[in-house]
Amino acid sequence: FIDDVSAIEVMDSRGNPTVKATVRLSDGTVESAVVPSGASTGKREALELRDGGDRYMGKGVLQAVENVNTQISDALIGMSPYNQAIVDATMKELDGTDNYGNLGANAVLGVSMAVARAAAASLNIPLYRYLGGANAMVMPVPMLNIINGGSHADNSVDFQEYMIMPVGFEDFAESLRASAEVYHNLKKILKDKNHNTALGDEGGFAPDLSSNEEPIQVIMEAIEKAGYKAGEQIAIALDVASSELVVDGGYRLESENRTVSSEELVAYYEDLCAKYPIVSIEDGLSEDDWDGWKILTDRLGDKVQLVGDDLFVTNANILAEGIQKGIGNSILIKPNQIGSVSETMLTVRLAQRNGYKCVMSHRSGESEDAFIADFAVALNCGEIKTGSTARGERTAKYNRLLEIENEVFYGEYLGSTLFN
Ligand code: PGA
Ligand code: ZN
Repeated sequence: FIDDVSAIEVMDSRGNPTVKATVRLSDGTVESAVVPSGASTGKREALELRDGGDRYMGKGVLQAVENVNTQISDALIGMSPYNQAIVDATMKELDGTDNYGNLGANAVLGVSMAVARAAAASLNIPLYRYLGGANAMVMPVPMLNIINGGSHADNSVDFQEYMIMPVGFEDFAESLRASAEVYHNLKKILKDKNHNTALGDEGGFAPDLSSNEEPIQVIMEAIEKAGYKAGEQIAIALDVASSELVVDGGYRLESENRTVSSEELVAYYEDLCAKYPIVSIEDGLSEDDWDGWKILTDRLGDKVQLVGDDLFVTNANILAEGIQKGIGNSILIKPNQIGSVSETMLTVRLAQRNGYKCVMSHRSGESEDAFIADFAVALNCGEIKTGSTARGERTAKYNRLLEIENEVFYGEYLGSTLFN
């Protein structure tokens, strides 16, 4: 049974405090988990409880820590760790709101993840196997964010993420090797063009390029220089994070000095998809622009993966509405948007049953915790977005996936079949 639940305040990859929760079981097992934090957050995400005031510029999490150490601990001690759904439901009921407005999703998710880890460890099986059972057997194709813009970098690029997707390889290890080679070639190319090669929050470069198309052009160059075929072996994915671009009267593309309507932005994407091997666009339109999303889905939905991040916020109810209205065809899965392991699993199941692809995802503020690597394999997501091949908090996830692939696999790497 659960013998003790506690938390402390630790540091995330941006120098902001976050929650580290620890669970001890009666058999002596002790496991911890660290909660991530976003920058371009969706409006309907579960509440991340911050202290306010002067400490850590208002971002302290001592209240969330206190909630773990008192209320949550009191409620969970004595419970079985092997029934994740009941543990999570107990915290949800204790909170009493539908967005963890009292306890904080950062408090709840930390404990939820630590309970899963402790249960797996006490049964002596890997986390992905505990959460996914014998059916956990798909290695995810990574989406690597190698040029950062938007609110993740101080450059003038409007789109938030320019990613490569190694779709034409046999296994995860090969796909990661090829991606790292593209990353290194991209660095050389940027250097040769006298661009800054400092890294953004997710380990991608953040050069001051002059348009939203130029990052795609330099990435195409890097793919070629690394010796790979663009499209066939390495495809391109975008996260526009367009909720951040909304102004009166449309979407502001600052680097192009123009404001465009939803229709114009969709036409812009169509144009980009015709010119480049773009297989996935995330948050192409804003979380409030469901009419725009409908146009986007009707126009590009049968060719391109259209991923809802801010749009669906890993929330099964919002996703259900999207499915019903024919909005998007894929969903980004960020456990801290919804607040617990079980609720994340419910959302993934709803998506998969309805033919929506699931992309497991980190946040821009991360830690050394690689929970999502195991989680992606457990749920057979087939795709994971966890930054570039640089910065320890990003490579922690890739390194864990390399370990898993070594351990398991008699399994499947979707690779080139992903978009067939
Ligand atoms: P965030 O960015 O973690 O800052 O929200 C990631 C994303 O938008 O996918
Ligand atoms: Zn996003």
